[in-house]
Amino acid sequence: MFEDEEIKYAEREIDGKIYVKVARSDEIYDGKGYKFAFEEDDDMQIAVFRVKGKLYCLHNICPHRHGERIYEAIIYDNLTIACPLHFWTYSLETGENINQKQGIKGLRKFDVFEENGEVWAEKPQYAPPKWRAEK
Ligand code: FES
Repeated sequence: MFEDEEIKYAEREIDGKIYVKVARSDEIYDGKGYKFAFEEDDDMQIAVFRVKGKLYCLHNICPHRHGERIYEAIIYDNLTIACPLHFWTYSLETGENINQKQGIKGLRKFDVFEENGEVWAEKPQYAPPKWRAEK
Protein backbone atom coordinates (compact mmCIF):
# COMPACT_ATOMS: atom_id res chain seq x y z
CA MET A 1 0.00 0.00 0.00
CA PHE A 2 2.64 2.57 1.02
CA GLU A 3 5.75 0.71 -0.03
CA ASP A 4 8.14 2.49 -2.35
CA GLU A 5 6.00 5.59 -2.35
CA GLU A 6 7.78 8.85 -1.75
CA ILE A 7 5.07 11.29 -0.81
CA LYS A 8 5.01 14.78 0.56
CA TYR A 9 3.23 14.28 3.87
CA ALA A 10 1.30 16.85 5.85
CA GLU A 11 3.62 18.19 8.54
CA ARG A 12 3.28 19.93 11.88
CA GLU A 13 5.72 20.99 14.58
CA ILE A 14 5.33 19.89 18.19
CA ASP A 15 7.91 20.92 20.79
CA GLY A 16 10.52 21.58 18.13
CA LYS A 17 10.08 18.24 16.34
CA ILE A 18 8.49 17.84 12.90
CA TYR A 19 5.74 15.22 12.69
CA VAL A 20 4.20 13.89 9.49
CA LYS A 21 0.75 12.42 8.95
CA VAL A 22 1.63 9.04 7.45
CA ALA A 23 -1.67 7.17 7.39
CA ARG A 24 -5.15 6.81 8.75
CA SER A 25 -5.28 4.68 11.89
CA ASP A 26 -7.37 2.02 10.13
CA GLU A 27 -4.66 1.60 7.49
CA ILE A 28 -2.06 0.40 10.04
CA TYR A 29 -2.97 -3.19 10.88
CA ASP A 30 -1.87 -5.00 14.00
CA GLY A 31 1.15 -7.29 13.73
CA LYS A 32 2.54 -5.59 10.64
CA GLY A 33 5.12 -2.96 9.69
CA TYR A 34 4.86 -0.20 7.10
CA LYS A 35 7.56 1.76 5.33
CA PHE A 36 7.35 5.50 4.75
CA ALA A 37 10.03 7.19 2.66
CA PHE A 38 10.65 10.89 2.30
CA GLU A 39 11.67 12.62 -0.87
CA GLU A 40 14.60 14.56 0.60
CA ASP A 41 17.01 11.63 0.88
CA ASP A 42 17.17 7.85 0.46
CA ASP A 43 18.24 7.55 4.11
CA MET A 44 15.03 9.20 5.31
CA GLN A 45 12.81 6.19 5.79
CA ILE A 46 10.84 5.04 8.77
CA ALA A 47 9.11 1.80 9.66
CA VAL A 48 5.86 2.08 11.61
CA PHE A 49 4.57 -1.01 13.40
CA ARG A 50 1.40 -1.73 15.33
CA VAL A 51 1.75 -4.54 17.86
CA LYS A 52 -1.05 -5.42 20.30
CA GLY A 53 -2.63 -2.08 19.47
CA LYS A 54 0.41 0.04 20.23
CA LEU A 55 2.41 1.95 17.63
CA TYR A 56 6.21 1.91 17.30
CA CYS A 57 8.46 3.73 14.88
CA LEU A 58 12.07 2.92 13.95
CA HIS A 59 14.47 3.80 11.17
CA ASN A 60 13.80 1.54 8.21
CA ILE A 61 17.44 1.03 7.27
CA CYS A 62 19.25 -1.78 9.03
CA PRO A 63 22.78 -0.85 10.17
CA HIS A 64 23.96 -4.23 8.92
CA ARG A 65 24.50 -3.82 5.16
CA HIS A 66 22.01 -0.94 5.05
CA GLY A 67 19.08 -3.12 4.04
CA GLU A 68 15.88 -1.08 3.62
CA ARG A 69 13.59 -3.80 4.89
CA ILE A 70 13.08 -3.25 8.62
CA TYR A 71 9.37 -2.69 7.93
CA GLU A 72 9.20 -6.37 6.90
CA ALA A 73 10.87 -7.54 10.14
CA ILE A 74 9.71 -10.65 11.93
CA ILE A 75 7.89 -9.51 15.07
CA TYR A 76 8.26 -11.63 18.21
CA ASP A 77 5.98 -11.60 21.26
CA ASN A 78 8.65 -10.01 23.46
CA LEU A 79 8.68 -6.89 21.24
CA THR A 80 11.87 -7.94 19.54
CA ILE A 81 12.08 -7.70 15.78
CA ALA A 82 14.45 -9.44 13.35
CA CYS A 83 15.57 -7.87 10.09
CA PRO A 84 14.35 -10.21 7.32
CA LEU A 85 17.67 -10.06 5.46
CA HIS A 86 20.20 -11.55 7.93
CA PHE A 87 18.17 -11.61 11.16
CA TRP A 88 19.91 -9.02 13.27
CA THR A 89 17.56 -8.39 16.18
CA TYR A 90 16.38 -5.12 17.70
CA SER A 91 14.06 -3.89 20.40
CA LEU A 92 10.85 -2.60 18.89
CA GLU A 93 10.50 -0.19 21.82
CA THR A 94 13.99 1.36 21.78
CA GLY A 95 15.72 0.25 18.58
CA GLU A 96 18.52 -1.18 20.68
CA ASN A 97 20.56 -3.99 19.16
CA ILE A 98 19.52 -7.10 21.12
CA ASN A 99 22.51 -9.33 20.39
CA GLN A 100 25.70 -7.31 20.52
CA LYS A 101 27.68 -10.26 19.20
CA GLN A 102 26.14 -9.47 15.84
CA GLY A 103 27.17 -5.81 15.99
CA ILE A 104 26.68 -2.85 18.28
CA LYS A 105 24.63 -0.52 16.12
CA GLY A 106 20.94 -0.14 16.78
CA LEU A 107 18.06 1.47 14.94
CA ARG A 108 17.05 5.07 15.53
CA LYS A 109 13.72 5.37 17.28
CA PHE A 110 11.12 7.98 16.40
CA ASP A 111 7.98 9.21 18.15
CA VAL A 112 4.64 8.09 16.78
CA PHE A 113 1.10 8.76 17.96
CA GLU A 114 -2.53 8.65 16.90
CA GLU A 115 -4.92 11.55 16.96
CA ASN A 116 -8.42 11.81 15.51
CA GLY A 117 -8.02 8.60 13.52
CA GLU A 118 -4.69 9.62 11.99
CA VAL A 119 -1.16 8.35 12.57
CA TRP A 120 1.57 10.94 13.03
CA ALA A 121 5.24 10.00 13.07
CA GLU A 122 8.35 12.02 13.81
CA LYS A 123 10.13 12.91 10.59
CA PRO A 124 13.81 11.88 10.43
CA GLN A 125 16.13 14.85 10.12
CA TYR A 126 18.40 14.79 7.12
CA ALA A 127 21.92 13.74 8.08
CA PRO A 128 24.15 11.95 5.60
CA PRO A 129 25.04 8.53 7.01
CA LYS A 130 28.66 8.20 8.09
CA TRP A 131 29.35 5.39 5.66
CA ARG A 132 28.30 7.64 2.79
CA ALA A 133 30.26 10.68 4.00
CA GLU A 134 33.41 8.58 4.38
CA LYS A 135 33.45 7.55 0.70
S1 FES B 1 20.65 -5.96 6.42
FE1 FES B 1 19.54 -6.32 8.27
S2 FES B 1 20.49 -8.03 9.15
FE2 FES B 1 21.63 -7.69 7.33
